[in-house]
Amino acid sequence: MDWGMKNRLAHIFQPASGNTVMLAADHGYFLGAVSRLEHVGDTITPLIPYADALMITRGAIRTSIDPLNAKPIVLRVSGGNSIAGEDLSNEKITTSIKDAVRLNVSAIALSIYVGAKYEHQTLLGLSELVNQGQEYGIPVLAVTAVGKELEKRDARFLSLSCRIAAELGAHFVKTYYCENFEKVINTCPVPVVIAGGPKLKTDVDALKLAHDAIGLGAKGVDMGRNIWQSKYPVPMIKAIKSIVHEKASVKDAEELFNEEKCKVDKACESN
Ligand code: 5RP
Repeated sequence: MDWGMKNRLAHIFQPASGNTVMLAADHGYFLGAVSRLEHVGDTITPLIPYADALMITRGAIRTSIDPLNAKPIVLRVSGGNSIAGEDLSNEKITTSIKDAVRLNVSAIALSIYVGAKYEHQTLLGLSELVNQGQEYGIPVLAVTAVGKELEKRDARFLSLSCRIAAELGAHFVKTYYCENFEKVINTCPVPVVIAGGPKLKTDVDALKLAHDAIGLGAKGVDMGRNIWQSKYPVPMIKAIKSIVHEKASVKDAEELFNEEKCKVDKACESN
C-alpha cells in the first residue's frame, strides 16, 4: 500500500488500538434535516474532540464545520436519491475526487446496494471510486446500504455485501451488527466498522451493540443517531470510545456514561 494511503488510514484507525470512532453525520444527503441534525454544526461541534474521524458531506463541512477545529474527514461522495423518491438504491458518485483532495479528506465513502434495483450502478460506482482513490492515495469506504429494508440486515446478506465491496477494492467497509456477526468478519478481508442504525431503545443498548461488534472483530464504529440523538451525546461518545479503544466492558462503559451524565446535569454533586 502506498505511503499516502497508509498515512490517511492511520488518521482514521488510531495506531495505538488499531480501531476507530467515526462520528456519522452524513444522513442529510438523502434524509434532509434529521432530528438533532437540523443544525449540523451545533450538534457535531461539541462531539468533535472525542471522535477520531467525521463522516459527512461536502455541503455540511463547508457550511458547518470549522476547518481549524476538525478531525480527519471521511467524505460521503454518493447520493442523488432521497427518502421521498422511488428507490433509495438509485445512487451515483456526486463529488469529484478533486473536490475531495481540496477538502483534504482522509477517505471517501459511498453506498452500495447489493440485491437492489440499482445494484449494478452502485457497484460500478464503487469500482470507479476505487480507481480514483488509488490514483490519489485516498482510501475508499463502502457502506453496505439496505435502504428502507432494515430486515435485510442478516449475516448472509451483510457477508455477501461486505465481501463484494472488498473484492471490488474498498479499503474498509461499513455494515450493520447482526446475529452471527462473526460470519461477516470472517469473510471480509478488509477492516469492518459498524453503523449504529436507528436510535435504539436505550443508551446501554447502543453500548452493548458496540461492545459485541468489537468483541467479534469489528475495527470500530461509524455511529450517528445513537450518539447525537441520545439525551447525553458527549457522555455517550466518551463511553463508546472506551469500548472501542480500551476494550471496556459494557458495565465499565455504562459507569463512565453515568459519571459523565452527572457532569452534564450537575445532578450528582450531593451524592
Ligand atoms: C447514512 C449513513 C450513516 O453514516 C450511517 O447509517 C451511520 O449512522 P447511524 O449510526 O445513525 O446509522 O451511512 O447512509
